[in-house]
Amino acid sequence: MANKATLHYDGRDYELPVIIGTEGEKALDIRGLRDQTGLITLDSGYGNTGACASEITFLDGEVGILRHRGYAIEDLAEHGTFMETAYLLIYGDLPTRAQYDAWIVDVTRHTLIHENLRHVYQGFPLKAHPMAILSSMLVSMSAFYQDQYNAMDRAHSDITIRRLLAKIPTIAAFSYKKSIGQPFIYPENHRSYAENLLHMLFAVPCEESNVDPVMARALDQLLILHADHEQNCSTSTVRLVGSSQANLYAAVSAACCALWGPLHGGANQAVVDMLGRIQQDGGDVKKYVELAKKKDSNFRLMGFGHRVYKIFDPRAKIIRDACDRVLKKLGIKDPMLDIATELAEAARSDDYFIERNLYPNVDFYSGVLYRALGIPTDMFTVMFAIGRMPGWIAQWKEMITSPDTRIGRPRQVYTGPPARPYVPIDKR
Ligand code: CMC
Repeated sequence: MANKATLHYDGRDYELPVIIGTEGEKALDIRGLRDQTGLITLDSGYGNTGACASEITFLDGEVGILRHRGYAIEDLAEHGTFMETAYLLIYGDLPTRAQYDAWIVDVTRHTLIHENLRHVYQGFPLKAHPMAILSSMLVSMSAFYQDQYNAMDRAHSDITIRRLLAKIPTIAAFSYKKSIGQPFIYPENHRSYAENLLHMLFAVPCEESNVDPVMARALDQLLILHADHEQNCSTSTVRLVGSSQANLYAAVSAACCALWGPLHGGANQAVVDMLGRIQQDGGDVKKYVELAKKKDSNFRLMGFGHRVYKIFDPRAKIIRDACDRVLKKLGIKDPMLDIATELAEAARSDDYFIERNLYPNVDFYSGVLYRALGIPTDMFTVMFAIGRMPGWIAQWKEMITSPDTRIGRPRQVYTGPPARPYVPIDKR
């Protein structure tokens, strides 16, 4: 395979190196392009731009492959735990039994949040969106750990990583409790990660807390499925903010804000809102498929389409099966799942969606599963953020330790007015 490409421009030939990844992905290395030719590249939305080389996640959107550090997402979801996947993403290999046990102890001892941080919740309005609270709390953590957040210090990073993984469920659950006016439930460290999260979300001090193991396992799987997805919008945000050597709390807080949008992690909430709207409107899925095709309707089928997948998102497949299994085991009949199934079938047999390769993505079914677990709609994106935390951390760690890292600073093509003289205000 050629390891150079030739660019012919303005009567001259320029040779550009071609980089080839482990799975045969090819990239044109344009790092010297501007110096050699005076040209920059223009790629709005970065659909064609590789921002880094990474050893963490492999994704083939043409055939629907997702692997973390070489392990298929299907295997991790079926056989692994979320904390094992987190270790794999962050440290590069599946842990041995001893490493796993030590990892759990290490993370678990950080589950409590500082009591003064708890008081910060009092300042938020009762109906504040939990994503607003989560992102604020994550960056607020940096105010409590100022002596240990130097991004370039390995020991600081190690403890920050543990604090973030351990505290994000506590912070998330407290934001939910705040919104419904219930007392905060503190973590119980003998519980597993997902079980503890469900406990903090749903327990009340006056009753015994029993977490259904079926629910805990389903949530653990959902977290695994969200754990990383290479250079998506929020992960690119972590890398970009982190490239300025801002602390990791600041970088993941920014990522949380990026995740919030309905075109990214906010889609899971938007899907359930959309399914509810269709249900209330009589359940005519075809009407909404037609609406989504009209460019001036400002309506898209939420949970459909993906920048990278041009086939069924492998995570959507796993969640679809888990939905069936969990609803059956819990004896829940949710008409929303029927509407989701009908909508997916109607869209998948429509030329508009076929031609554009628009398939259900991870967010299409996850909301139905969250509902079955009793998680309120505006907490869905928060659950996504909890799942994505190991990916954000792993990508940040790889970025901050890579010798190739420079501060992220894209260029632009200026299209505004040319130079013009300043006009005093009374002469305009
Ligand atoms: N419904 C109707 N039309 C769509 C949809 C949709 N959900 N998604 C894409 N299209 C059309 C779009 O109008 C365009 O048509 P045309 O070629 O005629 O102009 C074509 O398909 C390509 O779309 P695009 O917007 O250029 O594609 P993109 O890669 O920039 O956007 C996307 C990807 C995920 C933002 C988009 O498909 C979308 O808005 N989907 C709905 C929101 C959603 O489900 N987001 C979750 C993404 S997966 C999880 C995550 O990232 O967090």
